[in-house]
Amino acid sequence: MPKSKLYKILVDSRVSNKLADVTGLLVYVDGTFLQVLEGEQEVVSALLEKISKDPRHTDVKVVYKTGVERRTFNAWQMAYVSPSPKELATWAGLSDTTTIDSTLKTLESEPTRFPSVLSKLLLAIPEKDLEPQ
Ligand SMILES: Cc1cc2nc3c(=O)[nH]c(=O)nc-3n(C[C@H](O)[C@H](O)[C@H](O)COP(=O)(O)O)c2cc1C
Repeated sequence: MPKSKLYKILVDSRVSNKLADVTGLLVYVDGTFLQVLEGEQEVVSALLEKISKDPRHTDVKVVYKTGVERRTFNAWQMAYVSPSPKELATWAGLSDTTTIDSTLKTLESEPTRFPSVLSKLLLAIPEKDLEPQ
């Protein structure tokens, strides 16, 4: 996806997420989006429904869903990180996995890895977020 399209998704999302009190993170790796959505359960479910129908991507699925005491990305309406597949695999504790598909498969079957991946992603958020190109 060209940066201009990505930028539009982020800018629009940040505006509506602020209104809906949604926070989170958008990760773009090798043509695949991973997204963390944080907020009231009904708000997040409704948003997920909308996002699932968005023609700018396909094959949307939920890989991990949990209740939390505190949000991880509470300071961001939608932070953005774009690591390499290898970097993401390393953050998931998978040293010899290099494709996003295999990392996702492992994360899906071993959801206990999520808290640690999320804290690595939190540290990877650039100080200056994605700018218009
Ligand atoms: C990868 C991706 C992530 C998105 N994330 C959000 C988001 O966090 N918040 C949001 O409001 N819309 C997000 N959208 C846009 C929604 O799919 C939808 O276009 C938007 O909510 C506008 O809905 P509306 O029809 O009610 O105006 C995202 C779209 C894509 C493709």
